[in-house]
Order: sequence, then structure tokens, then C-alpha cells
Amino acid sequence: TAGTGRRVRDEEKMKTEMVTMRESSVEVVRGDFAILPCSFFTSSPLSRLNVIWTLAPFTNPESPIQVIVYDHGQVIEDPSLIGRVGFTGIPWSADIVLNDTQVSDAGIYRCMVNNPPETADPGIGELALTVLAPPSLPVCQWDGDVDMGGSVTLSCTVKEGTPTPEIHWEKLNPEEISLPINMEGDLSGSVQIVNVSSQTSGLYRCSANNFLGTENCYVNLSIYTPDSSSGILQGVLLTLSMSLVLLALLVLILWLHRTGQDGRWRGGKDDEDECYNEIRYTPSLMKRSFV
Ligand SMILES: *[C@@H]1O[C@H](CO)[C@@H](O)[C@H](O)[C@H]1NC(C)=O
Ligand SMILES: *[C@@H]1O[C@H](CO)[C@@H](O)[C@H](O)[C@H]1NC(C)=O
Ligand SMILES: *[C@@H]1O[C@H](CO)[C@@H](O)[C@H](O)[C@H]1NC(C)=O
Repeated sequence: TAGTGRRVRDEEKMKTEMVTMRESSVEVVRGDFAILPCSFFTSSPLSRLNVIWTLAPFTNPESPIQVIVYDHGQVIEDPSLIGRVGFTGIPWSADIVLNDTQVSDAGIYRCMVNNPPETADPGIGELALTVLAPPSLPVCQWDGDVDMGGSVTLSCTVKEGTPTPEIHWEKLNPEEISLPINMEGDLSGSVQIVNVSSQTSGLYRCSANNFLGTENCYVNLSIYTPDSSSGILQGVLLTLSMSLVLLALLVLILWLHRTGQDGRWRGGKDDEDECYNEIRYTPSLMKRSFV
């Protein structure tokens, strides 16, 4: 009937009367300023106008803060935002500006406008602020067994970045190959390498990127192969046995030299024979010393 139609129209008028959010979401690149729009309509004088902006941060939605308040001509900002937030057209508009935006500014902003005695309920509007940021420097780590045949896990974690950065792992040398990655949540990705060999050694890169930028971290992996370690052992043994041979030779020469001198003491005429013997018998004596 005409009566209910008019009542519905009145309710619609009541609802649309106070607050209009001209945007339901706003995006800004970190560091830039953002205008958060909130329009209201009132036919009463503005002397008792009251505007409250609150923020439920995406990082901590359970503890909303009062961003800025306008009450009876006074402006009160949240202490953490002093100097960064302000009304742009109060009292005719409830729009605010947020300067030097930070990632922690992102969240749901709510604009509440009350202009007594116009309505008992305040008009409320909401908008989501997204703060875009390049990825932060990722952190590369490795864990596992770097002995031949062992398995190694490379992991990479990036703390922030909006939109969510994509994570990639690559082996850079001898040729660049991209590696299959297991994601653990949105911001962490790992690569498992089983049965490692000397070919596994090399430089690995994790990159985190979104359209605002790319950041990299690196892991330099060296696989210990049994060949190289037993090679060192063989080298040590070889040096040791060569020293023993030299020592034995030295002892032998000294001993022969002494027997030669003894001979000389015994009889001067056998000198030449003794010297001859010394040379002649050396090979057989050497052989005997190794038996
Ligand atoms: C935001 O920055 C602009 C330009 O630098 C400046 O004019 C304005 O006063 C700043 N607003 C606040 C609330 O700090
Ligand atoms: C590990 O790799 C070596 C060659 O690199 C291969 O001979 C061996 O069969 C592999 N072992 C396993 C368990 O895959
Ligand atoms: C990686 O390690 C190897 C051996 O330890 C070294 O020769 C090479 O220079 C390192 N590369 C980088 C990029 O650090």
C-alpha cells in the first residue's frame, strides 16, 4: 500500500543519509600517501559533529586503534600516527590523508559520523587499505648431511611483501637450473636434494619477487666426497713412508761410513777394498733392511 511504500522510502533515506564510502578499497605503495574517503550528508548544523576513524590492522585485527577523532571542533590523533594522519576537509567532509604509509597501516578502516540531534545511530562506512611493498630480503638456510649419499634441505623464508612474493630456488652453476620447491605456507619454500654427490656442490639462489621488486639470498654448498678425503690420507701415508725410507738410508750411510772408518783404523792397506765394498754392498743391505 501507499503507507508501507512511504515507510520503506523513509528507511532508505535514513540509511543513506549519513555516510558514503566512495571506495570500498584503496591501494597504495608503501611510503606514498593515501586518501581515505568518507562522505556524509546532514541537514543539521555542524557544531556538534563527531567523526571517529578506527583501524583493525590486518596484522593484528583483534586490537583496533582509534586513528583520528573529530569532536566539537577538536582533532585527536592516535599517538603512533601523530604527524602522519589528518582530516582533509573537516567539517564538510570526513576524508583523511595518511602520509608515508607503512605496511602496518594496512587493514580495515571504519568511519563513524554522528551529528546530533540528527540521528541516534551514527553512520558507519568501511574500507580496506592495502599497502603494496616489494619483498623483504629473504633468508636462505641449509640443513642436512653434506657427505656423499646424504640428503640436504635448502630453505628460504621471506618476511614480507605485498602482493605475496613468489619464491624460486635455482642452482646457478655449472648451468642454471630451476629446482622443484615445496611451499610451507605462503612465505617459505624449501628444496630437498637426496643422495648428494660432487655434482651437487655449487651456488644456489633463492629469489623472492613481486611486481615491485626481487630480492635474493644464496647458499654455497660443498659436498665432501670420500675420494678427496682418502686422497688426503694417502698423501699423508706416502709422505710418512718416504720419510721412513730417507731415515733408513741416512742411518745406513752413517753406519757404512762408521764401519769404513773402523776398517781404516784396523789396517790402512784395505782402504780401497773397504770403499769398494761400501758401494757394492749397499743394494743388498738396503734390501735386507726392508725384509
Ligand atoms: C602529508 O604530506 C603533505 C605533503 O607532504 C603535507 O602537505 C601534509 O601536511 C601532510 N599531512 C599530515 C597530516 O602530516
Ligand atoms: C646415489 O647416486 C649414485 C650415483 O651418484 C648411484 O650409483 C646410487 O645408486 C644412488 N643411490 C640411491 C639410493 O639412489
Ligand atoms: C663457494 O665455495 C667454493 C669452495 O668452498 C669457493 O671456491 C667458491 O668461491 C664459493 N663461491 C661463492 C660464490 O662464494
